[in-house]
Amino acid sequence: MQYKNILVTGGAGFIGSNFIRFMLGKYSEIKIVNLDALTYAGNLENLKDLEENVNYKFVHGDICDEKLVNETIRNNPIDLIVNFAAESHVDRSVIDSSSFIQTNVVGIRVLLDAALENGKIRFHHISTDEVFGHLKADEQPFDELTPYNPRSPYSASKAASDHLARAYFYTHKLPITISNCSNNYGPYQFPEKLIPLVTTNLAENKKVPIYGTGENIRDWIHVDDHNRGVEMIIEKGIIGETYCLGGDTEKTNLEIIEKILEIMGKKKDQIEYIEDRKGHDLRYAIDFSKAKSELGWEPQIAFEKGLKETIEWYKNNPDWWQKIKSGEYQEYYKKQYGE
Ligand code: NAD
Ligand code: TYD
Repeated sequence: MQYKNILVTGGAGFIGSNFIRFMLGKYSEIKIVNLDALTYAGNLENLKDLEENVNYKFVHGDICDEKLVNETIRNNPIDLIVNFAAESHVDRSVIDSSSFIQTNVVGIRVLLDAALENGKIRFHHISTDEVFGHLKADEQPFDELTPYNPRSPYSASKAASDHLARAYFYTHKLPITISNCSNNYGPYQFPEKLIPLVTTNLAENKKVPIYGTGENIRDWIHVDDHNRGVEMIIEKGIIGETYCLGGDTEKTNLEIIEKILEIMGKKKDQIEYIEDRKGHDLRYAIDFSKAKSELGWEPQIAFEKGLKETIEWYKNNPDWWQKIKSGEYQEYYKKQYGE
């Protein structure tokens, strides 16, 4: 790895915590500083196994805090920033978009300026395929040339962050790259997202809510495949470029839920059809041929196998998600780190 001191933002969340574990497991010569505000989605238990690792350090703070961001970069001294920090749940952005604009737009501005002012630090921005809008059943998958057309406050805020990152490349020659990835699944995903919500509800013998008809399609990728893609972009990606990463696994929500029911030995009468999400995007799909030809990346974890292992992980770690579902862990971190 050509970078030695990495600042990961949002590393106490789902994808960021898996990224830190993956990188520290693979490279013994790197150090990672994890800057995370510990919002409702941030959970240091995601990184409990790394607490004693001398190459890992946690800094509790907000990416919007200019002074803290600059101090953290200078003190460590950071040569790569990987920005996972975000408000990430579409349903929450429908109810209140303010924190989405604050973290996803204002926050990345702070990070980009700090990268610029501290010697044009290499910057990788984690983004989503949702910036491209949605597809009809017969439309071609998104690729790097698809025009942006975000339709939720979440995806609009992520689109803004992508535009800002790219603007700092064109304007200031800041060495950035961006990845736009499809729906991730895997261990440590907050149980408000479809796969962990369904799995943990079924483990508790509760109903599983399906929005609308269940015909909406997502392209699912294992979080480890995503993070391997991020690593390859950091190492080999062309500065200023965007890479689309996807799982090559388009499934309707109903197919996903039925598969989880089958793996967990549950019956279809646990499904509960509820009111549709406002502005519910119909379909996401990714053409990752650029990442494949330029980086040699493609997803490696077959969906059925990855899903079975993920369900097994939730079954084996009830303490992790039961605490979250009860809200107990938020009280714990408030006591430990203050508001
Ligand atoms: P997550 O919600 O699980 O984690 C987000 C993390 O960011 C949390 O630890 C939270 O405490 C932290 N955070 C939020 N606001 C912050 C702030 N102002 N300052 C510092 N830290 C802050 O999200 P995730 O699913 O791990 O997603 C990570 C990134 O990947 C996001 O940028 C998201 O847009 C993107 N992404 C997610 C998916 C997916 O399927 N989950 C797919 C593609 C892209
Ligand atoms: P989600 O995991 O929230 O990811 P995103 O909205 O970013 O794609 O939702 C995935 C799909 O599952 C989406 O079409 C909404 C649907 N969904 C349900 O049907 N029921 C649920 O309880 C949740 C959380 C999502």
